[in-house]
Amino acid sequence: MTHILAIDQGTTSSRAILFDAALRPIAQAQEEFPQSYPRPGWVEHNPADLWSTVAATARAAIEKAGVNATSIAAIGITNQRETTLIWDRKTGHPIHPAIVWQDRRTANTCTALKDQGHEAMITARTGLLLDPYFSGTKIKWLLDHVDGARAKAERGDLAFGTVDTWLIWNLTGGKVHATDATNASRTLIYNIAKGAWDEDICSLLGIPLSLLPEVKDCAAPFGVTRPDLFGREIPILGVAGDQQAATVGQACFSAGMMKSTYGTGCFALLNTGTDMVPSKNRLLTTIAYQLKGQPTYALEGSIFIAGAVVQWLRDGLKIIREAKETQPLAEAAEEAQGVILVPAFTGLGAPYWRPDSRGAVFGLTRNSGPAELARAALESVGYQTRDLLEAMRADWGTEAQGVLRVDGGMTASDWTMQFLSDILGAPVDRPKVTETTALGAAYLAAMQADVIGGPEEFAKSWALDRRFTPQMDDPTRDAKYARWGKAIAATMSV
Ligand code: G3P
Repeated sequence: MTHILAIDQGTTSSRAILFDAALRPIAQAQEEFPQSYPRPGWVEHNPADLWSTVAATARAAIEKAGVNATSIAAIGITNQRETTLIWDRKTGHPIHPAIVWQDRRTANTCTALKDQGHEAMITARTGLLLDPYFSGTKIKWLLDHVDGARAKAERGDLAFGTVDTWLIWNLTGGKVHATDATNASRTLIYNIAKGAWDEDICSLLGIPLSLLPEVKDCAAPFGVTRPDLFGREIPILGVAGDQQAATVGQACFSAGMMKSTYGTGCFALLNTGTDMVPSKNRLLTTIAYQLKGQPTYALEGSIFIAGAVVQWLRDGLKIIREAKETQPLAEAAEEAQGVILVPAFTGLGAPYWRPDSRGAVFGLTRNSGPAELARAALESVGYQTRDLLEAMRADWGTEAQGVLRVDGGMTASDWTMQFLSDILGAPVDRPKVTETTALGAAYLAAMQADVIGGPEEFAKSWALDRRFTPQMDDPTRDAKYARWGKAIAATMSV
């Protein structure tokens, strides 16, 4: 039993990858599922879709690999974080669609809690900010708006979970209600210093403790799968939120190491070791991973729109048919036009945290066209990452190693990675394996299953594909970044 099945339940699709004992991917399957936008700023997923696409892709990956389920030592789960589900413990039926991390419906609740002066206490305990991004106010919304939900919750009849918990519940046939410390650290109700649900914050939000799952390490026994799913019981031994799993997959195990993942959004994590570093620059303090009861902390910068800006070029503006057309277009753009796009489509995340801001384009001329917009879109990803790194440098001082390890779909674009390195003024390392999220989840499960050794051994397998080094001169970099700053300020003032 040496294979590991990694389940990666993301915002737009579910994927399953089967890894061999050396953690090389040998087969994968992927399925998209519908997004629902019932009102402006609202984003929902059907919980049944999340589960059915996971079950189907897991089976498909095993079948494609041509291995027998008996050779699978363990399952590792990684998932879109913060997305909030509540279901009935007896029937397993969700009481409402899942409220997705991007959903802004609780913006007013967050503002009211801020106005009442609660943010400093919540940040000190959870490392997070009062923003609708996190699960806490979404749970409150569900209990306040779904008929009878609060009474049922108070009777202990309901269960809350982030997506990992929902999948564990379904994989184990309703036997296990658990999460891991990284997913818990994104809920706004988990005290990351104490390693426990925070009763004061739960009571402030009106969340009964009976709703909450047990919190475990990232590498731990999370139960076994229902025998009918894969023909035998397979233990679930690894769980981490997707950005934390990518931090593990990128082998960022020492304090000062940093990774940035470019998916729908962009999430940069700086490992700060066993120090819980509070941010003075509106970054998040979060748990990078927790092994043997010991949390390793991180500073996180979360940007909501990265790869999604390319989807907008494709589906919204319809100026490209496929993502890969963006790079040649950007190369053909007239740089002198200096068009700037601030993709605040769903508000601005770190370090600005402005749920009400919306996107803007600056510097349009009569000659501006698809090429200039494509270039501005790709550049916006670099500028936003620089904002995060500036905040990290200020919070963490000079000890950060200064190299950024990158992964995710957008890193396939050399042009984008070169611009990123140019605008950061720092090296950008792209590894050979860019499936780092699934790899991280697989590694956690493999370590727990004793298929592979500890983090040091795993770190040796990290291999560089290409290092991008800054080619832009300092005055150009400074001038471009200063214009971005002005564009952001103008966007927030509208
Ligand atoms: O915090 C949200 C994040 O976990 C979502 O990641 O890759 O599904 O866009 P992704």
